[in-house]
Amino acid sequence: MQILKKWFPLCLSGLVLASCSSEVRRDPGKVYMPDMAYSRAYETYSVTPEQKEALLKKGIHYSNVPVPGTMKRGALFPFDIPKDPEGDTANYYASRQVKNPLTNLDAATMVEAERLFLVNCAICHGPKLDGNGPLYKGGDGPYPAKPATLVGDAKYEAMPEGQMYYSVTYGKNKMGSYASQLDTRQRWMVIAYIKSKQAASKPAPEAATDSTGSKK
Ligand code: HEC
Repeated sequence: MQILKKWFPLCLSGLVLASCSSEVRRDPGKVYMPDMAYSRAYETYSVTPEQKEALLKKGIHYSNVPVPGTMKRGALFPFDIPKDPEGDTANYYASRQVKNPLTNLDAATMVEAERLFLVNCAICHGPKLDGNGPLYKGGDGPYPAKPATLVGDAKYEAMPEGQMYYSVTYGKNKMGSYASQLDTRQRWMVIAYIKSKQAASKPAPEAATDSTGSKK
């Protein structure tokens, strides 16, 4: 025991010194379970054909083909129009051409779209979409800018969905962007809800149906 106590620190320092070799090791040595060391996850463009070749030589079959049944993030609801640079409005107007990919929302989705509107937008635009939410209160509220009157103003009733989407995505003057609060699908849902409310406010022809499919 006494011996061990005496020699142990010496052995330890010997070990530490031995590991401080000046030689730089680039080779990790034998790989136990290469599947775990080399990810086979889907990483776009991260592996070149040459790298694949090199991996194959080591017996690793790497394929950067997407996992079957999966889809690139954002591919479902593409919106290729970037934000205008300061002082430009070309993209804002170009966005008028973009159509809402969500059509004929079912009743349950419309209820969710309404909920999203009430949570995120009604504080300014008003639960009735009259541009007079509690934050504005006809000018008496703390919010300085008049929110758009989404129902009852011909300008916004004529506004194409794509342009609304642009403004909700990138913001418009005092209104900020909602891109981080609502995902792409939710933004289109909210816009479908606004459009349905606009349509419902019009004196509809007899037995007309709105986008929820219910009789007005
Ligand atoms: C903090 C207040 C506020 C909130 C919350 C808000 N908005 Fe707005 N919104 C405004 C104001 C103010 C304007 C008018 C901007 C302008 O034209 O100067 C506006 C304008 C708009 C317009 C017209 C855009 C255009 O291009 O003229 C749309 C559409 C719109 N809002 C939708 C929404 C939706 C959908 C939400 C919820 C996701 C929302 N807003 C949340 C304040 C708000």
